[in-house]
Amino acid sequence: MATIESILHENRVFPPTGEFVRNANLSGMNAYETLRQAAERDYTGFWAKLAKQHLTWHKPFTRVFDDTDPPFYKWFDDGELNISWNCLDRHLTTQADKTAIIFESDEGEVIHCSYRELHSQVCRFANGLKTLGVRQGDRVVIYMPMRIEAVVAMQACARIGAIHSVVFGGFSAKSVHERIIDAGASVVITADEQTRGGKRHSLKATVDEALVMSDTNPVHSVVVLRRTGADIAWQKGQDHWWHDLVSQQSDVCEPAWVNAEHPLFTLYTSGSTGKPKGVQHSSAGYLLGAMTSMQLVFDYHTDDIFWCTADVGWVTGHSYVAYGPLAIGATQVIFEGTPTHPHPGRFWEIIQKHKVTTFYTAPTAIRSLIKLGADLPGQYDLSSLRLLGSVGEPINPEAWMWYYTVVGQSRCPVVDTWWQTETGSHMIAPIPGAVPTKPGSCTLPLPGIDAAVVDETGLPVGQGKGGFLVIKRPFPSMLRTLWNDPDRFRNTYFPADIAGGRYYLAGDSAHRDQDGYFWIMGRIDDVLNVSGHRLGTMEIESALVAHPLVAEAAVVGKPHEIKGEIVVAFVVLRENLPEDQRAVAIAATLREWVSSEIGAIARPEEIRFGENLPKTRSGKIMRRLLRALARGEAITQDISTLENPVILEQLSQTV
Ligand code: WT7
Repeated sequence: MATIESILHENRVFPPTGEFVRNANLSGMNAYETLRQAAERDYTGFWAKLAKQHLTWHKPFTRVFDDTDPPFYKWFDDGELNISWNCLDRHLTTQADKTAIIFESDEGEVIHCSYRELHSQVCRFANGLKTLGVRQGDRVVIYMPMRIEAVVAMQACARIGAIHSVVFGGFSAKSVHERIIDAGASVVITADEQTRGGKRHSLKATVDEALVMSDTNPVHSVVVLRRTGADIAWQKGQDHWWHDLVSQQSDVCEPAWVNAEHPLFTLYTSGSTGKPKGVQHSSAGYLLGAMTSMQLVFDYHTDDIFWCTADVGWVTGHSYVAYGPLAIGATQVIFEGTPTHPHPGRFWEIIQKHKVTTFYTAPTAIRSLIKLGADLPGQYDLSSLRLLGSVGEPINPEAWMWYYTVVGQSRCPVVDTWWQTETGSHMIAPIPGAVPTKPGSCTLPLPGIDAAVVDETGLPVGQGKGGFLVIKRPFPSMLRTLWNDPDRFRNTYFPADIAGGRYYLAGDSAHRDQDGYFWIMGRIDDVLNVSGHRLGTMEIESALVAHPLVAEAAVVGKPHEIKGEIVVAFVVLRENLPEDQRAVAIAATLREWVSSEIGAIARPEEIRFGENLPKTRSGKIMRRLLRALARGEAITQDISTLENPVILEQLSQTV
């Protein structure tokens, strides 16, 4: 096998494999070019055609695109539809008995749920929500285990036009609280506990805690799914068992026909300030992006068994679990557990058992699976696979090659998909059968996505030169605003200094090679990517300084073999520099603290204490220097302005 270096140096392009022939939609670069040019020639016409083809409208749209109030763009905005109807009802005439979801629990219990059954569950739950007083436009927080019911809850909200905001089950009570308050949610849907990797974690108790964190909260009802049967506190009048709520409900629920621009959901994500952003998505444009990419990037075939391993707490679990696969009528696997429990071959076992054809996971999972047993996939029958996908962070060429050769047996194209919570669906990704792949590159923008790499004024940079990744034209699936914060939306994503505020600024840096292929280099802001999860350094810093022992803190990322990046915290205590034992104890306390303030994913892996932090004359923390210290690199920057160079020595020591 060729070495990674040779591939990178020769820039070898993987030719389309035999399997590409199955792609009925497209074949060869000519097809890609044809589509791309069609979008370029008649941009709005291109999207309008797709919107008519993919979505079923209650009232057809006549206006395609509205840019009268940039950057608050609208798509198809005089049309009406219902997203749950598009995901469920329209399949009932043709494929009601087709399996929509193959669910496998943490313990290995398997449930097959047909489109008919899913539709009925969604209608009953939607009717249940109505009896609690939930109306169109109301916000509902969903804090659930990765089970069919999580999808039912989301779809039920969509059915009645309520705006859901899913909070990942690993987030703390404080994070749940902040999201409830920001969204102004009147209902929370949760479970007694969740079970992952054989371990139970309370959900209802965390919600209870979140609800008493301020004197008033907007929540009047909490719906609780019984998952483990654990003892939970119960507040009469407020709390309702899921099974009681649906027991008397009809399985007919007329959908709310909403405007194309009606917010389908908000999803909170980290930015460069301490406060998470409520990314607000539309209905029609969002679903169109999810469906188009299901077809183009995942090359959807009716007999596919699609498996996206993401949790519904992240955008990937929205677009490629809760919405995209259902809208296109696919059969998908939903797995509640972790890749390695009860044995390191669990993922491969699931692929074998359910004959998965399309497998979509994160580089961090791929790397940890390599570590656990690079030859393990060989012990399972993975011949059902025909397409592999990657998402969440740059995939290193080594992991790409292993994925391609060992998991896909050099037979399955690998689609490395670049996108974000804000973009709603894939932006830069190969179309299998049309676009040849290169390990480590997400290849070329999808047709209709005008991506570019530019300098700080918005001018294109030359080939091979790093710059800001932007999308030059608004596209249907993009976020519409930040919940309650239109100014932050404009300033963050459409900064005036770049092309006069006309471009969508992704927040990543990238460069393009001689074939125009995109290579993502990393974030341009203070956002970390730990195991494919986005974390703001400021968020973690705010959590740390909220602890009574801490005077000051700075957080940076450090490259990590499996997680991509880990959190390194530099901390100045209110007390003197602690001796060894005390330092270890305080570090443990602070790790726990960050877990309880944000969630376990934000816990600093390394903590370093110093009497001060390195700052510039104007008092700015020298983050570049801290990053070098975290990596154990030689300091090459000018440190002549440092008042107390001895702190560099202190900050080099990890507790
Ligand atoms: C950030 C978005 C997209 C859903 C999951 C994460 C990084 C994402 C890739 C990729 C290189 C990637 C970017 C992006 N990212 N996919 N294929 N190659 N980087 O969504 O939490 O909104 O994070 O993840 O830095 O900006 P998110």
